[in-house]
Amino acid sequence: MAGKKENGKIIRNNTMSKNSLVSISDYSKDEILSILESAAGFEANPNQKTLDGKVIATLFFEPSTRTRLSFETAVIRLGGSIIGFSDAATSSSSKGETLNDTIHMVSCYADAIVMRHPLEGAARYAAEISPVPIINAGDGANQHPSQTLLDLYSILKTQGTLENLTICLVGDLKYGRTVHSLLMAMSHFNPTFKFIAPDELKMPDEYKVFCKKHNIKYTESTELNDNFNDADILYMTRVQKERFLDLMEYERVKNVYTLKNEMLAHSKPNLRILHPLPRVTEIDPDVDTNEKAYYFKQAQNGLYVRQAILSKVLIQQ
Ligand code: CP
Repeated sequence: MAGKKENGKIIRNNTMSKNSLVSISDYSKDEILSILESAAGFEANPNQKTLDGKVIATLFFEPSTRTRLSFETAVIRLGGSIIGFSDAATSSSSKGETLNDTIHMVSCYADAIVMRHPLEGAARYAAEISPVPIINAGDGANQHPSQTLLDLYSILKTQGTLENLTICLVGDLKYGRTVHSLLMAMSHFNPTFKFIAPDELKMPDEYKVFCKKHNIKYTESTELNDNFNDADILYMTRVQKERFLDLMEYERVKNVYTLKNEMLAHSKPNLRILHPLPRVTEIDPDVDTNEKAYYFKQAQNGLYVRQAILSKVLIQQ
């Protein structure tokens, strides 16, 4: 068997699938817009049996509600079948099986793999060794590209455009993979960003360098208050407890911002509040009935966008 050695394992040559979605930067602007157009079609008609006979594996090495269940619903509505696990403790990785071996085995059974993993780079590694497409459902603090595509769909639906918007990113900008993916995707659409985070959770330098390289305007602040009154999108995030090495540091910042209804009094009429969810304390439930709250509808949009992603990965290519 031709192959190269990596960590003592034989990696087979010529097996890598070219259709994986690992980072939002894997898709061009045209491909992103095509996914959003396709998602609108699935929203109008969700039951299209285009994945008849296909098997999709969902491998979740970290907890999830929305991402896993919306991917699985998307497969079912497209007529495909699901295998997989929602808890790595029930898989043979708990006996010491490597990710390399897990991917090789599951690729014998499934036509595509949707994977969430705590390690940054795990999805890229899987895509490099897998003969079937890998869809990254979140790798550590790195990327969450399917979330970004549903965020873009939600922004487009609520604003009528993706161009020239002011987007306020609030909360855990250090460990929040959704804001990292969204920032990169918006580079196609001339955004202005307002980064609002405590010093401990500031946007990492690599993303600020990315902004400078792509002529993206941004400001930084530690105060929420009404700092979003000129914004079109207010994107709240949860402080990512599971990424902290020091839980005392988490305790210091966990309740740093809570958005309340009265804080929205002077916001723009077109402002919409997004949150990838789950939320903890960062949005008070009194905001839920405000017409500017869009986070539950945003999560619903994930179904249509993930139908579009599965179709692109497995059918259109
Ligand atoms: N937004 C998101 O990734 O939610 P889950 O962790 O519930 O999948």
